[in-house]
Amino acid sequence: MSKTKIEELNKRFPEKDPTELLSWFLNEYGDRVALSSSMGAEDQVLTDMVLKIKPDARIFTLDTGRLFPETYDLIDRTNKRYNTKIEVLFPDYKQVEEMVNTKGINLFYESIENRKLCCHIRKIEPLKRVFKTLDAWICGLRAGQSVTRQNIQVVEWDDNNGLIKVNPLARWSESDVWNYIKENKVPYNPLHDKGYPSIGCLPCTRAIEPWEDVRAGRWWWENPESKECGLHKR
Ligand code: ADX
Ligand code: SF4
Repeated sequence: MSKTKIEELNKRFPEKDPTELLSWFLNEYGDRVALSSSMGAEDQVLTDMVLKIKPDARIFTLDTGRLFPETYDLIDRTNKRYNTKIEVLFPDYKQVEEMVNTKGINLFYESIENRKLCCHIRKIEPLKRVFKTLDAWICGLRAGQSVTRQNIQVVEWDDNNGLIKVNPLARWSESDVWNYIKENKVPYNPLHDKGYPSIGCLPCTRAIEPWEDVRAGRWWWENPESKECGLHKR
């Protein structure tokens, strides 16, 4: 997709209501576009939106093997509620075994390098596999989530991965997300009510205090500037 087309799409669709934008992408790309869901609050909003537009829209989630039990339950609940089948992607067992047996089961606490290796094997490699089947991916990123996300656009060319990236909720606030969830009775992870606004893998996520940044509980032992797992490198 050309730069001009991306600019045009960014101008064409109203920023607060992503329905038209999502319809356009689902229509235009069919099975070559998918929602990438971590099962977080933003992704649950998008799941509700895309399935209301296209009941057989593709949604995938990367199962690192280290997710919270509540997240696994939510995958199941979401499938039942929407009569859908979220595609679950697993890492390569040989890579996981080699990593864990040489560096330890909880290697990510030892160094940033180890943490990035674990994210690479458990998330990036499976993501690259699914990208082979896609021309565009839809993500739940919001500009307000962190310093690393302030400049995101609704439609972007994802240079790292060579496909279009759509962030329909880029300009949404946290309360926009929660208002939508409540109004539409969208199923969500109960951990959100226990101090976890942002949920990733269990060993790398903790609850936050009310005054902390929403992503403060992710890889809390690292600097805010380095806290991206590589999914959203900028
Ligand atoms: S992360 O990079 O720090 O893990 P975050 O949890 O904020 O990202 O999620 C941002 C977006 O990345 C989500 O809205 C979703 O689109 C995508 N994403 C994150 N984790 C996953 C996952 N496990 N499976 C699929 N998509 C994911
Ligand atoms: Fe590994 Fe933690 Fe990254 Fe999950 S978030 S893939 S456990 S380093």
